[in-house]
Formats: sequence, C-alpha cells, structure tokens
Amino acid sequence: MKHWQPREIEILASLRARFLKRTAGTSDYWRSDEEIALYDATFAARIGWKIDAVLRAVQAIGWRPRSTRMLDWGCGSGVASRRVLDLWPEFSAAAFHDRSARATAFAKSRLRAEHPQIAISEPRADHDTLLIISHVLSELDAVQLEGLLAQVRAAGEVIWVEAGTHPDSRRLIEVRERLLGDTEPLRVIAPCTHQARCGLLAAANARHWCHHFAEPPQEVFRDARWEEWSRELGIDRRALPYSYLVLTRHDAPALDGFSRVIGFPREGKGHCRVLTCDASGVSEPMLQKRDAPDLFRMLMKGREWPPFRWQISDGKIIAPPTDA
Ligand SMILES: C[S@@+](CC[C@H](N)C(=O)[O-])C[C@H]1O[C@@H](n2cnc3c(N)ncnc32)[C@H](O)[C@@H]1O
Repeated sequence: MKHWQPREIEILASLRARFLKRTAGTSDYWRSDEEIALYDATFAARIGWKIDAVLRAVQAIGWRPRSTRMLDWGCGSGVASRRVLDLWPEFSAAAFHDRSARATAFAKSRLRAEHPQIAISEPRADHDTLLIISHVLSELDAVQLEGLLAQVRAAGEVIWVEAGTHPDSRRLIEVRERLLGDTEPLRVIAPCTHQARCGLLAAANARHWCHHFAEPPQEVFRDARWEEWSRELGIDRRALPYSYLVLTRHDAPALDGFSRVIGFPREGKGHCRVLTCDASGVSEPMLQKRDAPDLFRMLMKGREWPPFRWQISDGKIIAPPTDA
C-alpha cells in the first residue's frame, strides 16, 4: 500500500530542491494551501523535532521564557511557535510574520485550532516578546537581515533555529558577534556557555561549524508513512542537524566553567575526540573509554547532552564531568 501520492512527492521534492539550491529567497514560493499543508506534515514536523531539542537544551540549564507574547518571524506554517506553545502554553498572544500571506493565514488557522485561548496580535516585537525565528536565514539578503535584526534587538527573548549546515551556522555566528557588539547586548544563553567571541572564528577552526543533532521521536522509525517518505525523497530520518541561538535581555543561567559539545564526537579505537566550546575557545580533547566508561557511552549513544564541566589536561579529558 502506498502512503503518498506521486503528486505529493513531486511537490515535496521540488520544495526541497529549492531549499537545497538556496534559491528560496528570491520570491514567495508558497503556491497553494496543499503545498503548505504537505510541508507542515513533513519538513516542518522535522523542524519541530529540532525545536523540541532546543527547548530540551534550555530546560536542561533551567531556563524558560518570561515573555507573555511571542512573534514567529518567517513563520511558514507556524510549526516553531506551535512547538513552543505545546511546551509553554501560558503565552497570552502570538503574532506571525511572513512575506507570504498564504503562510501567515495557515499559521494563524493552525494556532486557532490548537491553542484557541491564545489571542493573535500584531507582528511587532518589544521587551515582553519572545521572538521565534526558524529556518529563514538562508532566504534573506543583507537588507532583509537588517530588518530581522531590528526585531531581534527590540525583543526580550529570542529562540533562533537554523539548519545545521556550515553556511547557515557561520551566518548565525556572524549574527551572534554583531549582536554581542551592541551597546546593551542581549545575552546568549545557549548553545554558548559564555559571552566571549565565538571560538569557531579562530582560523584553525574554519572547517568546523556550530551544529547539534536532535533525537527524532522513536515512533518515526516504526511508521510506514515516514519510512516511505524517507525512501522516496532520499532523506535519512535519523539525521536532524541544526544550529541555534537563544538570547535574553533578562537574567540568564550562570554557566561559568561549563563547555558545550559541538556536533558529534569522532570515535576511534577505545577513545573519541570531542569538539568542545567554552569561554577560552574551541578545542578537541580526547576522551579514553577506560577513563570514563559511562561518559563515553553517554556521548556515543546519545545526541543531546547538557553542558559539561570537563577537566582537560594535555589534550585529554581527565575527570568525569558535572553537568549543569
Ligand atoms: C523554510 S521556511 C521556514 C518556515 C518556518 N519558520 C519553519 O521553520 O518551518 C522560510 C519562510 O521564510 C519566509 N521568508 C523568506 N523571506 C522572507 C522575508 N524577507 N520576510 C519574511 N518572511 C520571509 C518564507 O516565505 C517561508 O515561509
């Protein structure tokens, strides 16, 4: 039995081709409600799992938003704000902005259906606004990015999630550096454990990029519809790389001395190398399995880790870490 019509796969494949060619920014590409609904059920669902991972990461360091309003900028089908509301439904109002009127209408109608208690407001950020940005950066030219940064600077809190590619991560790092150079900067609370210059900007780290991997929900692997979707489009269901920034102008969790793992550790015989970032920069110490078997297993088996307080000596992690 077929779960997807050839037409549906064709629509999704052509959307994906546009994203991969990075030509999506040139003009509004949402051609029908059916296309947005197909996007929402598939690509956006995968984005939703990345958003969930980001929300788990900030919960792990004891953070939650304090804003009472949210603005989903470049909302598409509105998946990002819905994921936030599924976890934190206490917002009083949500707003949507997209260059596509079709997309904002879709996002609003899904919000009304799923969170009818939440008012829909004007898309303007202020200090009581959580600004949500997801998978938009590659579609913006320099002028459009300035427009978005004005909203970021006006907001109280920001959750910004992008694809985990080298170019998208590098562009997000540029944004971070610019924002931290402001006179009254927002504070970065994740993934960075510090407010120092990004260590990936050191020339020796040019090949690296700041990305992380989300754990997909287990049912995806048992679901024939996802299995067929993944086969038809040639997409690995397990791979969910993303880059992100969470910012606040309010109190932030103190993470002095903690490090964040970047990407996935490189496994060798009886050891792994862990790309790790803290206020002093980015380094790639070795962890020997015999020194900390539980930690080694945790790193190899999982995808999502809290910040660690390593002790590193001679390029080796020598003490089991304490997490945040
Ligand atoms: C890849 S989709 C992501 C949608 C949604 N944020 C998500 O994560 O699923 C990018 C969205 O950004 C919108 N977009 C692109 N350029 C824009 C601009 N200059 N201003 C506002 N929205 C824009 C597109 O219309 C599209 O809905």
